Amino acid sequence: MLTEKFMFTDIYTNSRAHLIFHICILALDDTHFFWIYPKLVAVSDKIAFANPNAPLYPRLALGKSWNEMTVTWTSGYGINDAEPFVQWGPKEGDRMHSPAETLTFTRDSMCGAPARTVGWRDPGYIHTSHLKELWPNKIYEYRIGHKLNNVTYIWSGNYQFTAPPFPGQKSLQRVVIFGDMGKGEVDGSNEYNNFQHGSINTTQQLIQDLENIDIVFHIGDICYANGYLPQWDQFTAQVEPIASAVPYMIASGNHERDWPGTGSFYENMDSGGECGVLAQTMFYTPASNRAKLWYSIDYGMFRFCIADTEHDWREGTEQYKFIEHCLASVDRQKQPWIIFLAHRVLGYSSCICYAEEGSFAEPMGRESFQKLWQKYKVDIAIYGHVHNYERTCPIYQNICTNEEKHHYKGRTLNGTIHVVAGGGGASLSAFTSLKTKWSIFKDYDYGFVKLTAFDHSNLLFEYKKSRDGKVYDSFKISRDYRDILACTMDSCPSITMAS
Ligand SMILES: *[C@@H]1O[C@H](CO)[C@@H](O)[C@H](O)[C@H]1NC(C)=O
Ligand SMILES: *[C@@H]1O[C@H](CO)[C@@H](O)[C@H](O)[C@H]1NC(C)=O
Ligand SMILES: *[C@@H]1O[C@H](CO)[C@@H](O)[C@H](O)[C@H]1NC(C)=O
Ligand SMILES: [Fe+2]
Repeated sequence: MLTEKFMFTDIYTNSRAHLIFHICILALDDTHFFWIYPKLVAVSDKIAFANPNAPLYPRLALGKSWNEMTVTWTSGYGINDAEPFVQWGPKEGDRMHSPAETLTFTRDSMCGAPARTVGWRDPGYIHTSHLKELWPNKIYEYRIGHKLNNVTYIWSGNYQFTAPPFPGQKSLQRVVIFGDMGKGEVDGSNEYNNFQHGSINTTQQLIQDLENIDIVFHIGDICYANGYLPQWDQFTAQVEPIASAVPYMIASGNHERDWPGTGSFYENMDSGGECGVLAQTMFYTPASNRAKLWYSIDYGMFRFCIADTEHDWREGTEQYKFIEHCLASVDRQKQPWIIFLAHRVLGYSSCICYAEEGSFAEPMGRESFQKLWQKYKVDIAIYGHVHNYERTCPIYQNICTNEEKHHYKGRTLNGTIHVVAGGGGASLSAFTSLKTKWSIFKDYDYGFVKLTAFDHSNLLFEYKKSRDGKVYDSFKISRDYRDILACTMDSCPSITMAS
């Protein structure tokens, strides 16, 4: 009656320092899911790590300036146990040592259950080292080290990355963007709250194509640990092949941040009590305050303005001012490709979830931001949160401003193209049956978006499915700097009589 397939591996840990594993193997009976009628078929001997403190899961992120790469990792070595650092240097060049800062947090830093209760587990230590003064596009090698007090060195494996291009640099620049990926088990075994069925496909597709990807943005709803802390380690393990090789930039989503009474803009319990602590500690972002995950990134010919939809973003807020400054301060001659990123849909989406509320986006989103997108000629805005793919026409105030669908040549778009790219892995979101003029392409499947800047005049946008990595929707923008200068509706400087 029992199938051969082992469905469940449970790992019990009593603390980061004394990991003891019991592997309980349960099998699925043909007619019932195991969580209804679990059957214990075997219990292994106790097993233990060779070194439970070993440095793990290096993840790269861009630093506060374009020529700085940060390396973040997890270990069991506190600041009194060992000195954490990164040994690095150009391929076939001299090696340097950069020390790392060390963070951790306690159960008290969690805002509620399950993060504070059954989901709590000592996170160990999270280290970040800043590798500075990089040469654009140069290949660097690195490995992580911990120098123990008795002068023994503990090393990670060897990794490498390509340094970012300088702002305005003309070179091939390829950016992958998606939201809501989560994690899964390659062997099909179960985990608590297992609903990110597309996650493994997305991860594998990105790993396969990694040599054609320069930077990744995972725009919120990172791993859906939802207060079960060990799931963050599972996620960082899953994305390690990607995140150790190209910058892995995150944005904050409801599943990282939201918790009532803790300053999140939405007062729900989606973070399972994590209230942003895990996201802001496990991943580095060049935000000026790590608890508020809005920031800007200059990457060659791109400027990315990343909003944190889980903190108040309405007009007049600190965040709104930051976003306006980010959009306003770009020299479009050098960085023509300006991209707005946010977790929740502030622009346009045909998700049934919004349609049921009588809208096509988060309330107040468009009202707050469309004047900025228009004034600063934002070409593309990309969101997650809604677990599907959708692309709009260039649009302003609910009206398509351009009839073209695939090749935007010359002049500006007169509006912004809004894209939902929340099909990274979590169970798909249905579309409303309402037809809108602005929706150009919809896909109810797992996938991600890729932007390729060839030079200052040519940008390619592609949507790829996670199941096969093939392109299912795309468009091009071909345009010169003088076209961006063209004044369009509501983007013209206001003229007063006095002038
Ligand atoms: C240094 O300390 C580590 C951890 O306690 C131990 O495994 C190692 O054998 C020690 N090395 C020497 C040379 O004493
Ligand atoms: C993952 O990709 C495989 C191979 O294309 C496909 O058969 C499977 O349905 C995909 N899984 C999901 C959840 O989309
Ligand atoms: C963009 O707007 C300007 C000013 O309103 C108008 O002259 C131009 O024709 C528009 N371009 C397109 C492509 O619709
Ligand atoms: Fe979300």
